[in-house]
This record gives sequence, C-alpha cells and structure tokens, in this order.
Amino acid sequence: MVGIYTNHDLADSERRDLVFSGNLLLYGRNAATDALAQGAIELITAAFAPHEPQSAQFQLSVEEFIQIAGPLKTQFTNALRTKEQVRAVLEAFGCDLDDTYFDVPRLRIVPHGGYLSSGVSYAYKAHRDIWYASPTAQVNWWLPVFDVTADRAMSFFTEYWEKPLKNSSAEFDYGDWCAVGRKMAATQVKEDTRKHPLPQESVSVASELRIAGTRGEVIMFSASQLHSTAPNQSGATRFSIDFRTFSLKDLRSGRGAPNIDTKSTGTTIGDFLRASDFRPMDPGIIEKQHVA
Ligand SMILES: [Fe+2]
Repeated sequence: MVGIYTNHDLADSERRDLVFSGNLLLYGRNAATDALAQGAIELITAAFAPHEPQSAQFQLSVEEFIQIAGPLKTQFTNALRTKEQVRAVLEAFGCDLDDTYFDVPRLRIVPHGGYLSSGVSYAYKAHRDIWYASPTAQVNWWLPVFDVTADRAMSFFTEYWEKPLKNSSAEFDYGDWCAVGRKMAATQVKEDTRKHPLPQESVSVASELRIAGTRGEVIMFSASQLHSTAPNQSGATRFSIDFRTFSLKDLRSGRGAPNIDTKSTGTTIGDFLRASDFRPMDPGIIEKQHVA
C-alpha cells in the first residue's frame, strides 16, 4: 500500500521511515524550494530568450533546441548557487547537514509530443533508481519549475512497490556506465546510447499515478519506487528539478527501502556531496565498515 502524505511536519528521520515504507510525501512551496525553482527559471529564461521557455520548442528546430537545452542543464547542475540552494532546501526540511549527502541536482526538460525524447531529453522508461545502482537508503526529491499538469508530469506505478518486475538490472554496472559516459563526452556524442536498465515484461498501468504540482512544490519518494517520465501531451515543455539524498547513518546501519527485484552492481554513492561542506562522499567509509 502506498500512502500520500501532504505537508506533514515531521523530523527527517520520520520522513525517511515513511519513504522507505513506500509512501509518497508531498510538500508545498517554501522560501527555499521557491528560491531553487526561481533560480532555475532565471537560467531557463535567459537561455531561451527571446522565446517563452515552455513554448520555445514550437519556434526552434530540434537541433537549435538541443543547443540551448544541453548547456543550460550543465550550467544549472554545475553552478555553486544551485548547490547552495539545495543545501538551503535540506536545511529548511530539518535535515542534519553533516549526515545528509546529495547528488548534484538535475534540470529535466521534457518537450511536448514526439519532438525529442533522447539525449538531453531522455524519456526514462519505468525504472527504480536502484536498478541504476542507487542505494536503497536514497530519497528522491522532485520539484516542478513551472506548474505541472497531469499530462506533463512523472508517473508512479505504485502496485510495484510490493510486486517485482522482471528487468535487465543484472546487466547494469555503475562503473561500466560511467566509463561509457566519459567516452561519450570525449567524442561529443549527443545521443545517449548507454544501456539503461529496462523492464523485461509489460508494465501494468492500473496503478499509474501522476502528481501535478506547482512551482517549487516537492515530491519525496524512495529510490525503490517504480516511476517513469510520462509522455508529455500537454502542449508545453515540462521543466522540473530533481536530486537525491541519503543519510550516512542509514547507509552505515543498512536502513533503507526493500529491494525486491534489483541485481545491478556498483554504487552511485561516490557521486554524492556532504550537504554541510560539499565534500564528496568517500565510498570507502562504507566498504571499510563492512569489513570491520
Ligand atoms: Fe528515476
């Protein structure tokens, strides 16, 4: 059973308990999440000027769109200001900044229709983040930049919280994934030809759920939750922000969501930064712990 909790005033550890039991947590905009969204809007508006960002795709060729969207996404992700804004969000939510690690936030740009669904706008098929070697202790944070409607949202398939789905995660190794990514960057290949872990049977949409929030509202969910990019049929480009967190204490104690069907190898934890000082996570901390 998946519950939807709206605006519950909870300690971070209590929130993680709910997330690790499959619940979705929704929070209204606060000053920190609004600043993160507004920061993105500034960059997006400047990048697409003189076009209105949500309708720019109708004035631009796909090539022109990619030339704007690619550098924009990189700029957003790499800006120190973005990381500081994420830290402010974590602080606003009462996370312990010395124990909380986050990966760099991503700006997702999902155009309307069949305009572009690969490369800079890769449309994720149904997946659990743990298929991509994320830790089960991971919490995903997802925020609309501009208001989202159900026909340009993301999809959850909540029945799979308890039900395994046949998938190709056994063929996914995070080390190989990064090596291919680095090679692609070196040869400046625009299209993402990496082998994503995918469902190997049809996905039931009986429990499909789309949450249509407004600017700076937050959806928190577990890395074990099955979700996808919903096909955008809204007539406007979707812009959203997502990032992931974990608590080092959770990693150390093995606390997290269940893993019912994932066989990927490697781990993404080395990509995470400590919220207090942006120091990269040392995966050795956990490995040493396991040896001890
Ligand atoms: Fe995901």
